[in-house]
Amino acid sequence: MSFQLIEGSAEQTIPLFFINKKQLDESLQESGLSAIWMTANNFKAGDGEICTIPDKSGGIDSVAIGLGDREVPGIWTMAGLSHSLPQGVYTLKEKQTSEVATEIALGWAIGSYCFTRYKQSDRVLASLVWPDKVDKQLVSSLASGVHLTRDLINTPSNDMGPEELATAASQLAGEFEAECNVIVGDDLLQANYPAIYEVGKASDRAPRLIDFRWGDSGPKITLVGKGVCFDTGGLDLKSAAGMLMMKKDMGGAAHVLGIAAAIMESNLACQLRVLIPAVENAVSGNAFRPSDVIKTRKGLTVEIGNTDAEGRLVLCDALAEAVRTKPDLIIDFATLTGAARVALGTDLPAMFCNDDKIADSLRKHSVECDDEVWRMPLHKPYRKLLDSKIADLNNISGGPYGGAITAALYLEEFVGNETSWAHFDVMAYNTSSRPGRPEGGEAMGLRAVYSMIKEMVN
Ligand code: BES
Ligand code: ZN
Ligand code: ZN
Repeated sequence: MSFQLIEGSAEQTIPLFFINKKQLDESLQESGLSAIWMTANNFKAGDGEICTIPDKSGGIDSVAIGLGDREVPGIWTMAGLSHSLPQGVYTLKEKQTSEVATEIALGWAIGSYCFTRYKQSDRVLASLVWPDKVDKQLVSSLASGVHLTRDLINTPSNDMGPEELATAASQLAGEFEAECNVIVGDDLLQANYPAIYEVGKASDRAPRLIDFRWGDSGPKITLVGKGVCFDTGGLDLKSAAGMLMMKKDMGGAAHVLGIAAAIMESNLACQLRVLIPAVENAVSGNAFRPSDVIKTRKGLTVEIGNTDAEGRLVLCDALAEAVRTKPDLIIDFATLTGAARVALGTDLPAMFCNDDKIADSLRKHSVECDDEVWRMPLHKPYRKLLDSKIADLNNISGGPYGGAITAALYLEEFVGNETSWAHFDVMAYNTSSRPGRPEGGEAMGLRAVYSMIKEMVN
């Protein structure tokens, strides 16, 4: 993918320069001509704001990019520019440090994303000449991962069922000589994945477990992603409004495939395994019911309090398998609860972790990458809310409070405390557009996790 970043070109390039609020004020006092033009055009040098400066013949001389109160641009400062600048080839006027240049290029690359599967746009995007000193490998790996995650989420369920999700995983495996095995339909019962089977059995599109492995040295890292390709709620059917966005309920799977793509493209020395339970939570005569008691891979029995709490059911079998091979770290991503969004809003993923060092490291990387996650507690006293009178546990807590925590505690039952584990409850979707982050599928916490894994393997 080109990401609208090109090698130094012979074509005429238009210089881009940065100016923050303080510098704009100062150059106005010096009555710089371009500063006068900028203020006449109501340019306030806000972060990411642009002002095109004309040359004497009426062409574009250069483009000012506001930094707000910043000293240097951040990842999102230029992320919208490939879409908002006039078509052409642009270049940075001033030299940047390697770190800043890499942030700029990464924002540009992520921001060049368009979902074009069903509607071609005739708009030609602007391109940027790769700035000097950029870590191109890092930019390309992360941008590939984010684009893949967004594409998978944006593709509606009619074209992204359990089978198509498995095909996407095996295509990715093919690109990097990874191994990809898929257990489908009734074979899930023979292979002892009863909960995945139960949730997915009502759909004409058979449930499956995708098991992807790559790399043969370094730490053992297992990523698990919720792959509910559409969540109707099952017999506890969602409302129309609640169902509207549920093509994104495989967002966790999309995240772990995006992270895997970035890890493999940059050849990080780890033994990677990706497990994705891929199902459709559908309604039919043979659908699992509220009050059913089902078995799980770990042997625990679960009473179904609500068929709409299906994510934890498919994840618990995948997590039990993940733990079995004793990896150094398990990370799962899931669009698991509405309650996590009530607690933290749509943009901030909730992170739960049974290992304080890993949690602190994830938080630190998330701040450094401008990809924040927020830790929430695995508050043990709430575990009793999942007690069932007739089974080992219920899949929901009876009450309306602390739903993200009780969901995480449910998962913890299947992980135990011998393996380091982090769980991300994510929205995986931008509910409105911002520069570089269009409405639709979004990777949240992906760069933070990649950055921590990169540090782990170094
Ligand atoms: N996929 C949903 C959670 C969800 C909803 C995530 C909206 C993001 C936005 C999940 O399967 C679900 O329906 N969870 C229920 C659990 C409840 C029945 C205990 C929820 O959050 O309401
Ligand atoms: Zn649900
Ligand atoms: Zn769901």
